[in-house]
Amino acid sequence: MDVAKIREDFPIVERKTFLNHAATSPLPRPVVEAINEYMERSSTLGTASLDLEEGRRLFARLIGARPREIAIIPNTSTGLNIAANLLDYPPGANVVTTDLEYPAVVYPWLRRSLNVEVRYVRNVRGTIRLEDFEKAIDDRTVAVAISHVEYANGLRNDLKAIAQIAHEHGALIIVDAIQSVGALHLDVKGCDVDFLATSSYKWMLGPPGVGFMYVKDDLIGRFEPTFVGCAGVKPEVFETTALWNNRELILSEDARRFEVSEPGALSFVGTVTALKIILSTGIDLIERRVLKLTGRLIDELTAMGLRLQTPEKEEQRAGIVNFTVESPEDVVRMLGDADIIVSARAQGVRVSPHFYNTEEEIEVFIEAVKGILKAS
Ligand SMILES: Cc1ncc(COP(=O)(O)O)c(C=O)c1O
Repeated sequence: MDVAKIREDFPIVERKTFLNHAATSPLPRPVVEAINEYMERSSTLGTASLDLEEGRRLFARLIGARPREIAIIPNTSTGLNIAANLLDYPPGANVVTTDLEYPAVVYPWLRRSLNVEVRYVRNVRGTIRLEDFEKAIDDRTVAVAISHVEYANGLRNDLKAIAQIAHEHGALIIVDAIQSVGALHLDVKGCDVDFLATSSYKWMLGPPGVGFMYVKDDLIGRFEPTFVGCAGVKPEVFETTALWNNRELILSEDARRFEVSEPGALSFVGTVTALKIILSTGIDLIERRVLKLTGRLIDELTAMGLRLQTPEKEEQRAGIVNFTVESPEDVVRMLGDADIIVSARAQGVRVSPHFYNTEEEIEVFIEAVKGILKAS
């Protein structure tokens, strides 16, 4: 990977040491150009059309799915709400999640009207043990709702093993992949995931406003979505009639049935370009580099005697490293004053480099932390 060349497409590197991709990524230059070009075409030639199928196809490739299993959605939270509202919850049913989740993974099941028990598997020093999933999941479990990578400490969950436990009990696995897709290799078929949702604005390097949802092929036809619109019906409903056929709802047989209307055009064209950057760089190369940079962070922070909240084992971590300090907000602010961008999360500092960051930038960050801690 020619990192110097790649960095030419990331203008942020000229001004900041940006290690905050678990929050919102800076836009690569080609993404901005695609958005500008769309706006230019729209203002000079009229509305430019969107190739929605291209977006579905590219995202499907990234996660090892088929394009017919992909719906374009506004964001992760919407996708997880769609999934939660499709399922039935008989009396006594439960949904299993963990105590490390972002609200998007849990709130959809806390609605009183669903009347479903939510079980929280507790983390043990930042990891969720499979034996604790085994204890929590039973034959009344309708779904396991979980992040692939946890937002605060960066734990990478073993989706394949969790899916296996869920399926043995007839439960589905619903995955929030916003902290992994774009940074890690993810094969939804290999892991046997049922539903997955993500947005493009973190590790996928796109703008906010567009996300994707994966629904396993054999589940698609089983569900009638709660929200419906013209984006979710069979194309012939529109093509073969002068007026829309509004007397019956003929839902698409693929995952488009979960789409309601067109995505935001600017976000969509930016996302397509971002997907092309990720795919042409190669997700395996990206993952290797992200793990190398986070591995270097872990080594340096440990050598400084700092306490990590992130599991150290390579198979349990991803692009996020979190370490505790006395006042994380102050440390993050002081780093920001030095143009080093990270976040404060869970009483710690969360650092999240992407593949275009360098070991030199990690070194700049480490030296700055040393300076701040020495002075305090
Ligand atoms: C794990 C996780 N899920 C969901 C979200 C929010 O996603 P969206 O804005 O796509 O709804 C975040 C944002 O930080 C997150 O970290």
